[in-house]
Amino acid sequence: MEQAILQVARAIEQAERILVITGAGVSADSGLPTYRGLGGLYNGHTAEGLPIEAALSGPMLQRDPALCWKYLAELSKACLAARPNAGHSAIAELQRRKPGCWVLTQNIDGYHRAAGSPAQRLIEIHGELAPLFCQSCGAEDDELIEHLQRPLPPRCARCAGVLRPSVVLFEERLPEAALGKLYDELRKGFDVVLAVGTTASFPYIVEPVMQARKTGGFTVEVNPSSTDLSRWVDVRLEGKALDVLPALLSHIPEH
Ligand code: APR
Repeated sequence: MEQAILQVARAIEQAERILVITGAGVSADSGLPTYRGLGGLYNGHTAEGLPIEAALSGPMLQRDPALCWKYLAELSKACLAARPNAGHSAIAELQRRKPGCWVLTQNIDGYHRAAGSPAQRLIEIHGELAPLFCQSCGAEDDELIEHLQRPLPPRCARCAGVLRPSVVLFEERLPEAALGKLYDELRKGFDVVLAVGTTASFPYIVEPVMQARKTGGFTVEVNPSSTDLSRWVDVRLEGKALDVLPALLSHIPEH
């Protein structure tokens, strides 16, 4: 592993543009559940016998907002009860040392921002848990924590409409702005792409890795398990983001 880490550190040091793609695995080290794999949120069904993807879907938020919010509240409470870990901090530090380093995250926990990743080089492709906004009048509401102590679904103080976070629920489209930013940056190309803690379940997560391969870039996966990406990357760093990322940073000069 040490040899592989040194190889990745050298590639990063020589790189101008770097993309770090993260998934639930980077927050697993903060104690948050992942979605798939061992103990994953999606492996089970809800108390109502529904797959979690149905409960956390756009149509469910319209049809039965209280049921959808029951699971949105669970996710929110878990994220609010934990905090970023050394993996998030290492990524933020990498972005300080490499001004051409971007983060594309599928996580809605806000931990990259909290750990110091600059917002202008962070693409939160599945949105974020806060602030909430009213589906009827559009008013913004930054009382997520208070709403979680009240009956669900949370209601707008102005018009009593049902509030929601800007997260991408199942069967919903990705946010235009985030998608636009991602494709603007992909068009400029990346020298190194690291996929950290993700099963790469979506084409927009696989695509940056494949594009880097095609344009002679260097691709890395950081994950204790193998995934569909494993056979495509140049180097697999088999381990937890919490352990691998700080080790990687220790071999990258601060200048
Ligand atoms: N460090 C690194 N990787 C880890 C760790 C860890 N400590 N623990 C688990 N992993 C890996 C798992 O092996 C798995 O490959 O993290 C990955 C988590 O995969 P998923 O649970 O599928 O999460 P993710 O890839 O982020 O899912 C993508 O699916 O439903 C949507 O919106 C949801 O954003 C989510 C998206």
